[in-house]
Amino acid sequence: MTWRAGLAAVIESYCGLRLRPEDATGKLGALVRERAAGLGHADVLSYVAWLQRAGDRDELTRLVAAITVPQTSFFRDERQLRAIASQWRNERDRAFQIWSAGCATGEEVYSLAIMAVELGIVARVLGTDINAGYLGTARDGRYPRQAIATLAPHRAARFTERGGDVALRPELTALVDFRTHNLAADPLPRPDDGRGWNLVVCRNVLIYFDRQRAVEVVRRLASAVEDGGWLVLGAADPFVAGQVATLRPVCVDGQWLHQKWPALATKATGEGTTDRGAALADTLETGNRSLAMHDFAGARAAYQRCLRLAPHDAEAAYLLGLLHRKEGDPAAAAHWFRRALRLAPHHWPARYLLGSCLERAGRADDAGAEFVRVLEQLEAGRDVDVLRSRLSDLPGLQLSPRQVASACRAWLRERSVRAPH
Ligand SMILES: C[S@@+](CC[C@H](N)C(=O)[O-])C[C@H]1O[C@@H](n2cnc3c(N)ncnc32)[C@H](O)[C@@H]1O
Repeated sequence: MTWRAGLAAVIESYCGLRLRPEDATGKLGALVRERAAGLGHADVLSYVAWLQRAGDRDELTRLVAAITVPQTSFFRDERQLRAIASQWRNERDRAFQIWSAGCATGEEVYSLAIMAVELGIVARVLGTDINAGYLGTARDGRYPRQAIATLAPHRAARFTERGGDVALRPELTALVDFRTHNLAADPLPRPDDGRGWNLVVCRNVLIYFDRQRAVEVVRRLASAVEDGGWLVLGAADPFVAGQVATLRPVCVDGQWLHQKWPALATKATGEGTTDRGAALADTLETGNRSLAMHDFAGARAAYQRCLRLAPHDAEAAYLLGLLHRKEGDPAAAAHWFRRALRLAPHHWPARYLLGSCLERAGRADDAGAEFVRVLEQLEAGRDVDVLRSRLSDLPGLQLSPRQVASACRAWLRERSVRAPH
């Protein structure tokens, strides 16, 4: 094994970070050489072998700091914070527990504290990061003046002058705590009252992880959120929350947030099946949101959960067909459309899309026969109640009966096949 491969493995297992090829050549490569020489190793290979054996946390954190950037700012991606704030208006009597995971130098933590004060709610905010050095800056609460240059005056007034810099006022520093924490390995922090968090914010951290690890981290974070509470990931982070049964993606003012929905997990595993219909609808919606966001793995997991909940329901089979079609696999799509039609022969969207798969496979006669049946079904008024899940607000997933009818007619006309009247 080369020292680069060894280093990548030891860093990934320590904190989930995936090393890119350029990482080992730039700043990190120089640091590795410097540390190997400084600690008396004959070469970098021997240093990496020692790291693998010893797993020295301080040493690993030093290396991780060379590949992560504490890039952050006050009220970064403020639209997400506003979306959360919109859920907490009129909640003045409640106390909120907030955790910012991967908070770097603390700007996100103080932004959340300022937001809470502006909302008039009682809140405590914990900031954690793997890098203790960043947290030193966060605890100081002192930043260059430039850091607040774009803040509105009422927010800039939350800072005081300190030796040419600015510092958070004590009433804000009193609301926050900071702790080192490795998201990939350490036990999750809990609020002092032992309950779950009302809000966990983990933004621009998962971008460094591979997908599998990101899903694991989101699943763990979700387990720490209070029922009905929120998880907010960064807009650039991989959309993996669709793969976590207890999270419901919710679009608030154009921002995707995730709400903890405990009932869903219980129902989806088949325990407590008293409200199976509601669980099915919720899971379908989770799948549809994932599909709309091109999170195909998340959508597949949700639809398969639906099939386990209700093996004779045509909707999940139809949606799996849609998913395969979007993934560019018409043969698999046709399989699922056929299954939907076996379960619900009047399912005209499944029939229409089955026809288009057959056409793509060069089976024009079979396709035409399906299009004729679609027209017959639509004309017999069988276009109601075929789709229960709400697809109407998801672009590209909704089929209108009128458009489908006119597409079928045009197709049949072009090939001089008689269409039903
Ligand atoms: C780009 S900053 C994001 C800061 C802030 N959340 C924001 O969005 O403005 C990413 C942070 O994630 C931290 N980080 C990376 N891997 C981590 C891990 N395994 N556990 C905890 N923090 C981690 C890095 O140290 C860095 O401070």
